[in-house]
Amino acid sequence: MSTPLLVDVDTGIDDSLALVYLLASPDAEICGIVSTAGNVTAAQVARNNLAWLDVCDAPDIEVALGAAVPLSIPLRTTEDTHGPEGIGYATLPAPQRTLSDRSGVDLWIETARARPGEVTGLVTGPLTTLALAIRQEPKLPQLLQRVIIMGGSFHHPGNTTPTTEWNVSVDPEAAKEVFDAFSGLPAGRRPLVCGLNVTESIEMHPEHVRLLAAAAGSTPAEVIAPDEPLQVRSRATNPVIRHLSDAIRFYMDFHRTHDQGFLAHMHDPFAAAVALGRVPITLRPATVDVELTGTLTRGMTVVDWVGHWSRQPNVDVVVDTDPAAFFEELIERVGHFARRFTP
Ligand code: RIB
Ligand code: CA
Repeated sequence: MSTPLLVDVDTGIDDSLALVYLLASPDAEICGIVSTAGNVTAAQVARNNLAWLDVCDAPDIEVALGAAVPLSIPLRTTEDTHGPEGIGYATLPAPQRTLSDRSGVDLWIETARARPGEVTGLVTGPLTTLALAIRQEPKLPQLLQRVIIMGGSFHHPGNTTPTTEWNVSVDPEAAKEVFDAFSGLPAGRRPLVCGLNVTESIEMHPEHVRLLAAAAGSTPAEVIAPDEPLQVRSRATNPVIRHLSDAIRFYMDFHRTHDQGFLAHMHDPFAAAVALGRVPITLRPATVDVELTGTLTRGMTVVDWVGHWSRQPNVDVVVDTDPAAFFEELIERVGHFARRFTP
């Protein structure tokens, strides 16, 4: 049973691993990839998407340029988190394939209209392009089968301000418009929201990278050590493993310099596994809204679990999962997929 997916990313390091995981998943039918500004500029996101498709020898999947700036505030990017090109220390060959003539907004709308009720949206970046698509086609929430969103943080600290998660912080107005637009959908069609409360339990450690490389038959053993000099790069014979390892190493360095340990929170691949139904999750229906005017709390995803606002639930929040099961899934699928590239 395959899942038709429209993937909207701000490729970045964990977006990269999410894309490779989806390419490794026979039950994922990627209908298109939208490149939205966030971790890096939209043009760089698009380049990264095209380059990963080349590296993975992917079929001809449409990649479109999404929103280059948030709805109403200037773009802020985060090269310190994801590297100057958004892919950490990896340097991907210049992409041979080219961008679609369609915009990301048109890709969202036309993909959903072509297959009403069938396509699942997966958003692992800011919600700007999706918000613009809903403005243009207000029926989009009904036309989609479901949307899985990596974003927000629910009764859990932010990673960009004390209360706010990055994807929402880049464009809080877009997040609010999207959450509002999905009000009134029945259970089973409401967005599944993967916030930091659950994605920060998805801690990728160097051992996971070693196991991934081993599963791909890559040599030598892929050991990312915390005390290596910054300029060290992977020597993996397998190009997919080499590039992923160089990207992930940057993310681990970033987490360590921010006192989170030598690890990497793999937010986006987790959301991708949720979209495919490949990881155990616990959901809780809620009404979510986004603080826009708070001096200290702008961009906070405020969650009403019990009906204080007398508003129907508009999302299902992922409140629990099994991180070990997720990494087993990730390593098995991506390792098996990468085997074909081991010389
Ligand atoms: O807050 C984590 C999210 O922000 C992830 O999607 C990461 O890629 C960045 O986009
Ligand atoms: Ca992302």
